[in-house]
Amino acid sequence: MPQSPVTVIAIDGPTASGKGTVAQGVAARLGFHYLDSGALYRLTALSALRKGVPLDREPELAALAREMDCSFSGGGIFLGQEEVGQAIRAEQVGNAASRIAILPALREALVGLQLGFRRPPGLVADGRDMGTMIFPDAILKVFLTASAAARAERRYKQLIEKGFSANMDDLLKDLTERDARDASRTVAPLKAAPDARLLDTSHMTAEQAVEQILKWYGALE
Ligand code: DC
Repeated sequence: MPQSPVTVIAIDGPTASGKGTVAQGVAARLGFHYLDSGALYRLTALSALRKGVPLDREPELAALAREMDCSFSGGGIFLGQEEVGQAIRAEQVGNAASRIAILPALREALVGLQLGFRRPPGLVADGRDMGTMIFPDAILKVFLTASAAARAERRYKQLIEKGFSANMDDLLKDLTERDARDASRTVAPLKAAPDARLLDTSHMTAEQAVEQILKWYGALE
């Protein structure tokens, strides 16, 4: 008998839209696994920056992604033995991640790793192309948005809480540039899947967004 595929909820959206917090909240409530696909791009970017690989060398970057010894365990993100959960959140790494994410061979190199997260009892995956490219058969697709100003403010708070320095004007400019790059690239651009439900979180708390997604999910069953 053919096995039915493991349930996936795909949550896509632009940078600092609150995807991570919301997706983790949904995963925790359902007891599902969680994939932070952006972390994979950030891990590759961090490796490239450390090894001095230029950010436009597609074959070298794809090889780096394929050979990268990364793991997620106990809430930590590891490169080899080193916990890099904080290091990959630096703006410089996020920027580098956005730049290398335009390279098709690099994206291809990360596909297998992402599919590997699909394990019972289910997966909540967050990123840019979860519903469009990686898990097109996701049972529920959500596209989270929030105004650029709301997102810049969230990113500001996040950075300050983590002990990084931050400037609102720089953040807003950086975020708008990154949005434009993520949305205009030819491979897997940031856009809502035609069958995605839109959720504007500009005036919502993360908890309210989680509740809305759980409501949509509950209505499917
Ligand atoms: O979600 P994030 O800010 O951690 O992602 C960092 C960068 O990685 C983002 O600018 C674009 C890229 N990315 C992507 O291209 N596809 C994904 N599924 C996730 C992230």
